[in-house]
Amino acid sequence: MAASVLSMLAFPESFTVTELLMASAVFCLVFWIIESYTQRVPKGLKSPPGPWAWPLIGNILTLGKNPHMALAQLREKYGDVMQIQIGSTPVLVLSGLETIRQALVKQGDDFKGRPDLYTFSLITNGHSFTFSADSGEVWAAQRKLAQSALKTFSVSSSPSSSSCYLEEHVHKEAEYLIQKFLEQKGHFDPFRYVVMSVANVICAICFGKRYDHENQELLSIVTLSNKFGEVVASGNPADFIPVLQYLPSSKIAAFKDLNEKITNFTQKLVKEHYKKFEKGCIRDITDSLIEQCQEKKLDENANVLMSEKKIVNTIIDVFGAGFDTVTTAISWSLMYLVAKPEIQKMIQEELDMVIGRERLPKLSDKPQLPYMEAFILETFRHSSFLPFTIPHRKIWGDPSVFRPERFLSADGTINKALSEKVIMFGLGKRKCIGETIGRWEVFLFLAILLHQMEFSVPSGVKVDLTPIYGLTMKHAPCEHFQAKLRS
Ligand code: HEM
Repeated sequence: MAASVLSMLAFPESFTVTELLMASAVFCLVFWIIESYTQRVPKGLKSPPGPWAWPLIGNILTLGKNPHMALAQLREKYGDVMQIQIGSTPVLVLSGLETIRQALVKQGDDFKGRPDLYTFSLITNGHSFTFSADSGEVWAAQRKLAQSALKTFSVSSSPSSSSCYLEEHVHKEAEYLIQKFLEQKGHFDPFRYVVMSVANVICAICFGKRYDHENQELLSIVTLSNKFGEVVASGNPADFIPVLQYLPSSKIAAFKDLNEKITNFTQKLVKEHYKKFEKGCIRDITDSLIEQCQEKKLDENANVLMSEKKIVNTIIDVFGAGFDTVTTAISWSLMYLVAKPEIQKMIQEELDMVIGRERLPKLSDKPQLPYMEAFILETFRHSSFLPFTIPHRKIWGDPSVFRPERFLSADGTINKALSEKVIMFGLGKRKCIGETIGRWEVFLFLAILLHQMEFSVPSGVKVDLTPIYGLTMKHAPCEHFQAKLRS
C-alpha cells in the first residue's frame, strides 16, 4: 500500500524511497530539537532560572539516581523557583516551605494537576484518581467518594466495640505480628511481616478480609508494590521522550504486567462482593462503592456522572496507597529504634508510666504520650521517606541529627508549630486522604509493639540508614533484628 502511494507521487528519479525516509527522519529530529528549545512562556514573561539542558534528554543526566538530592543542590544555585527539562518536557521545581505553601495552598487550583505521563496512564487502565491527569469534576467526585468511604470504615466507631474500626484491626494485627516476631529463631528481617500486617489492616477496611502471613497471593502483591514505586518515582524515558512509547521495552512490559496483577487481585475480590452484596448490609469499602453504583446517588449536587468502572476502581487507589506508606513508616521507625536503643528505652518508660503493664495502648492514649509522638515526627522528618520532603538546614538547624526532643516544648508537650513543618502528607488539593488513618496506624502499631517487645541488633552490627530512591524510599534490608518479650 505504502509503495503504491509513493509510486503515484511524482518524485524526481534521483531520490530513492530510503533516502526520502531518511530525509524525513532527519527533518523530524531537527524539528523536535528546535521545538524542545522553543520558549513556552507568554510574551513579556521570563522562564524561571535553571540549568542548561541537553537537546532531547534535557537534565536527565544531572538528576541521576537520586533526583531529590540533585534538585536540593540545584536549588542552592537557582533558588526556590527553578525550571529544569526532563527529556522534552519543561518541569517547574519549587522548594522552601513558603514557596510550596504559596503554590499548593494559596494557588491550589493551579497546582492540583498531575503530569500526563505515559506510565501513569497504564495504572488501573487510566481510572486511577491518584495518578490520572484528570483533575476536574470527575477526579474531585472520585476523591470525595474515596474519602467518605474510608472515613466510614476506619475512623468511625465500630458497632461491636467502644473503639473505631481501625483500632480494632490494628489491635488484632499487632498481636499476630508479635507472635510472628516471637516465632523467628535468631536474627530476622522484620519488613516482610510488617508489610503483611499493615496490608491486612487495609484489606479489612477495603475487603473485610484478612490473609495469613504465609499467603502467597497477598505476599506477591505487596512485593510487587515495591517495583511499582520504583517505576512511578523515577519515571520512564517513554514518559518524557514520547516516541519511545512505540518501541518495545522490557521495563514497560514488566510495569504493565504488575499493574495487571494488582488489578486482577482487586477485581477478583470485587466480583466476590457483587455476588454476596446485600442492600442494607454494607460490610466494607467495596460494598459501599457497589452501593454507590447501584443507587447512583453520587454527588447529586455536582451532577457528576462517573462510570461504574471508575467507581469500583477507586478501591485500587485506596488499597494501593494504604499499605506501602504505613509499612515504610513503621519499618524506618524500627530501624531508628535499634540504631538508638536509648530512645527505645525512653519511649518504653513513657508507655509504662502512662499505661502501666496491665493493658495494651489505645488510640485515646496518644495525647498522653508526647515522647512517642515526637519520635514518630522525627522519624518522618529524618528519613523523609517521601523523597521530596528533604529536611533543610534553614528550618531544622541540625537536620542530620536524629533528635525527637526537638519537637517537645519546655513543658514536655508537642511543639505544634514545629510539628506542622513536617510536610509528610502533602499540602493543598492533593493532600493525602489517608492522613488520619496513617498517623493513627503508625502510632498504634508502634505503641503496642514497644509496650510488649524489645528490639535490638547484635552488638557490632551497624544499621544502614541510607534511603534508596523510590515513590516511598526504603532502607536497605536488615536481617539482624532480634525481638524478645518485655517482662
Ligand atoms: C504514613 C502514612 C502516609 C503517608 C506519609 C502518606 C503520604 C501521602 C502523600 C505525600 C501523598 C501525595 C500528596 C500530593 O500529591 O501532593 C499522598 C496521597 C494519597 N494518599 Fe497518602 N500517605 C499515607 C497513608 C495513606 C493511607 C493509609 C491511605 C489510604 C488508606 C492513603 C491514601 C492516599 C491517596 C488515595 C492519595 C492520592 C490523593 C490524590 O491524588 O488526590 N495514604 N499520601
